[in-house]
Amino acid sequence: MKKSLLLSLLCAALLCLVAAPIVSAADAPKDDYVIKAPAGMKTKEKDGKPGALQKTVPFAHSKHAAAKCQECHHTMDKDGGKIKKCTDAGCHDSLEAKGKDNAKEVKLVENAFHNQCIDCHKKLKTENKPTGPSACGKCHTK
Ligand code: HEC
Ligand code: HEC
Ligand code: HEC
Repeated sequence: MKKSLLLSLLCAALLCLVAAPIVSAADAPKDDYVIKAPAGMKTKEKDGKPGALQKTVPFAHSKHAAAKCQECHHTMDKDGGKIKKCTDAGCHDSLEAKGKDNAKEVKLVENAFHNQCIDCHKKLKTENKPTGPSACGKCHTK
């Protein structure tokens, strides 16, 4: 009786060890995931009127499996594994259009995404590794 209890506890513990990484990998959204500008996003003015938004950005997690989740979801360890939206309140939540005054401001939606996505693609390119695009029309496609 005692022995079998010990054995089942051991099995449960082992199962946790094996299952944990599988569960977190399965947590990534499917490849039809599309990143959109948050509601209320402002755009640069054109002829005195707000310009159009860029096309949205399809993002395939499976193409980015070489990177750790934490490399992009950089707050998840601090939050006990919880994944936030990049534009959640208190994060990259500035809806201002990029201009002279805020060109480097990382609270800006545009800068937060471009810094992470384009910087990595460019870095990998200089290292002659497989990489993603840095041309506007190759990401803003939909
Ligand atoms: C590696 C992919 C990638 C590339 C390359 C890229 N962007 Fe983006 N951009 C994004 C993502 C992701 C967002 C956040 C989602 C959104 O707002 O559409 C974004 C947001 C923006 C925004 C703010 C939202 C909006 O629609 O106004 C602007 C402006 C923008 N990008 C312009 C550009 C321009 C101009 C270029 C080329 C010089 C460019 N992007 C290249 C991925 C990219
Ligand atoms: C190369 C960067 C990158 C990597 C690596 C990455 N993600 Fe993501 N993930 C994103 C981006 C960008 C979004 C869009 C977030 C947004 O729209 O605010 C996203 C969205 C998500 C979402 C949906 C969040 C929501 O509320 O809509 C989940 C869940 C998620 N990722 C899980 C994972 C898991 C689990 C891993 C590791 C197995 C992972 N991601 C690896 C960049 C990445
Ligand atoms: C840690 C580095 C890294 C980051 C961060 C990163 N990428 Fe990539 N991306 C890659 C690599 C590597 C590839 C090439 C994968 C392949 O060819 O198998 C790639 C490929 C792509 C492609 C072309 C493949 C496809 O899905 O059609 C797109 C589009 C793309 N990335 C968009 C993004 C966007 C949008 C972001 C930011 C939300 C982003 N990437 C962040 C490394 C990165």
